[in-house]
Amino acid sequence: MKNLTIAIDGPAASGKSTTAKLVARRLGLTPIDTGAMYRAVTLKVLRLGINPEDEAKVVEVANKTDIWQECKNGVLKTYMDGEDVSEEIRTPEVSRYVSVVAKYPGVRKHLVEIQRKLAKQGGVVVEGRDIGTYVLPDADIKVFMKASLEERVRRRLAELKAKGVKVSAEEIRKELETRDRIDSSRAFAPLKPAEDAFVIDTTNLTIEQQVEKIIQKVHEKFGDEDP
Ligand code: DC
Repeated sequence: MKNLTIAIDGPAASGKSTTAKLVARRLGLTPIDTGAMYRAVTLKVLRLGINPEDEAKVVEVANKTDIWQECKNGVLKTYMDGEDVSEEIRTPEVSRYVSVVAKYPGVRKHLVEIQRKLAKQGGVVVEGRDIGTYVLPDADIKVFMKASLEERVRRRLAELKAKGVKVSAEEIRKELETRDRIDSSRAFAPLKPAEDAFVIDTTNLTIEQQVEKIIQKVHEKFGDEDP
């Protein structure tokens, strides 16, 4: 399956990242996490003390930022100007501002260029919000993952607790609701399922079941052939 391109989109905490990594591993593909790229630009903006609402300044910073990603031994790393920021981009502060930074067309254009360059190598599972609709409209398989807000709050809370981050369910609910609203209503490449996407509601599914559904789709469409 070395030339296959799979696009996985969906709202925050719908299970995209884990699923993308596992699907990639099963099929011998490379995962690409585009949300991590928006997070890396957000981290740089915050470090520089720039107001995320200042579109012109944020776009200027984005255009001067070198973002790269690679997966080694199953571990996906995100680099910002050569620095490994894979951990630091997951802080609640970055999560709070990332949707604001991601709505600027100037930021998106720069990152989409990088994403298309990475995907061009082929054999990729790319996850984000606009992959099937905008970044890779010719992807071989398009998946849109959704889950109830309750379940997404529960998952994000468990994830942050495991990392020792102290937040309440209410704070997470607010953050997810705000991000859903900004991501779905922005003018440029908003979050929505592609017309030809296969929609999976993961509310009552385990990670293994989500992965299996996608693998099944791949086999239905291509058998064991390499597309
Ligand atoms: O998947 P994530 O939670 O790490 O994504 C962080 C934010 O980045 C998300 O709230 C919206 C933005 N994003 C986007 O606009 N387009 C993408 N392709 C991926 C993420």
